[in-house]
This record gives sequence, C-alpha cells and structure tokens, in this order.
Amino acid sequence: MKSVLGIDWESRRRGRLTYDRPVTGDGPRGLIATDVWLARGGRDVLRGATLAVPPGAVTALIAPSGAGKSTLLRCLNRLLEPDRGTITLDGVDVRELPPRELRHRVGLVGQAPVMLDGSVRDNLAYGLRSPLTDDAAAAALTAAGLDDTFAARSAQELSGGERARVALARAVVRRPAALVLDEPTAALDADVARQVGATLRSLAAEGLAVCLAIHDVPFARAVADRVVGLDGLPVPS
Ligand SMILES: Nc1ncnc2c1ncn2[C@@H]1O[C@H](COP(=O)(O)OP(=O)(O)OP(=O)(O)O)[C@@H](O)[C@H]1O
Ligand SMILES: [Mg+2]
Repeated sequence: MKSVLGIDWESRRRGRLTYDRPVTGDGPRGLIATDVWLARGGRDVLRGATLAVPPGAVTALIAPSGAGKSTLLRCLNRLLEPDRGTITLDGVDVRELPPRELRHRVGLVGQAPVMLDGSVRDNLAYGLRSPLTDDAAAAALTAAGLDDTFAARSAQELSGGERARVALARAVVRRPAALVLDEPTAALDADVARQVGATLRSLAAEGLAVCLAIHDVPFARAVADRVVGLDGLPVPS
C-alpha cells in the first residue's frame, strides 16, 4: 500500500523505503530515521520516532512543544545518540560516517544558533574544507536573505532574526546533502520568513533533502511538500 506520502509501507516493513520521486542507486536516498528511541532526564522522550526526508523536497515536522522535535533533529547528525533505532543518509547508517563528514553532509540550523566570535564571514568560513571565496559568501548570504555587507559585520552584534539567517547561510555555504532546520522562522518577521521559505524551496529544487521543525502550521503548509508528525505519518490538514 502506498501512502499519500509516497512511502511504500510494505517495503518499509521489509527494511526498505521507496519514494514516489525518482531515486538513483541502491539504498533509500535522503535522511531516514526509523523507530528512534531516546530517554532524556530519565524519561523516554522519543518513542519510536520515524522521519523520512527525501531529497528534492521540503519536509515539515510538526508536533507539540516538548514532544521531541529538536531531540530528533539533533539525532540526525549525531549531536545526540539514540538509545535505539537507525538513522541513514542515502542508505548509509550515520554511525558509519566520521562525525565531521556527517555534519558537512547534514547541515543543522539549531533553534538558538550560536555565533562564534569574529565577523559573519568568519562564521561562514569556520570549518570549511576549502577557503571561502567572496562570491560563495555573498551567494550564501543572499540565499539567506541578507545582503553582502553583512559579511563584515560582527557576528555577536546581530539581531535574533539576522542571527537565524546567518546560521542558514553558514549551513548553505557547506553545500550539504541535507539541511535540517529547527524553527528557522521563529525570530523572523513575515516578509523575511517568506524569503527563507523561498530559499528552502529553491534548495530542495537543487536536490537537497530539506527538513524543518516548525510550529507555524500555515507556513509549513505553504512551504513544505510534506507535513509529518513524529510518527512519520502525514499531519491531516
Ligand atoms: N538536556 C535535556 N535533559 C533532559 N531533558 C531534556 C533535555 N533537553 C530536552 N529535554 C526534554 O525532552 C523533551 C523534548 O524536548 P525537545 O526540545 O526535543 O522538544 P521540542 O518538540 O523541540 O519542543 P519545542 O517545540 O518547545 O522546541 C522535553 O520534555 C524536554 O524537557
Ligand atoms: Mg524544539
């Protein structure tokens, strides 16, 4: 039986996921979390959480505050380690990838992004494998809705909304395969949020697997191809 998500649940029970979008190669593409359990503070926060983030699409994760969205997103690039369950990127268990490599491929923009000391440009360049060009810096800032004068600004002196956009630019400049964003629009006004939504859509059109946890349901419906809960099932509209 194929769900509206395009997930073939029968195949999935046999340990394989297929999407309605064309896929190449053998393993399921994109980021897939299956039956993830994680206890925090002595309590099971994630109880069999499941999430499929296919490439070429924006997936919105919606669940009540405290339900475990940030916890699950942090598992995707191993900032947290699940007690049980598996997470794969393009069919490869994330535990098999060196953490640095994994974090280049799975860009995570956190709910409260931390800026490093120095300029915005320093923040973009930090940890890159090759030197950051001015063009790449400008392109990443533009993608995040900032003009290139921001490159020279002190990262510690940004507003919350500017900080959120620099965090997005910092993830984009790494050319990740998957981009995971935790409440990316929380600090943004409606216009800038729309701009960020358009950026996420164009990144997905370039083939990225894009996932965002978000409380703003109308925004999720406007931007995302799929709106799902922590059980991996579509959230009814
Ligand atoms: N470091 C921690 N130690 C213990 N419990 C934690 C820790 N961090 C989070 N939790 C608990 O885990 C649960 C899930 O938190 P999480 O941040 O993943 O929720 P969320 O769905 O992202 O919520 P929100 O929508 O408010 O951001 C909450 O009950 C929270 O109190
Ligand atoms: Mg959260």
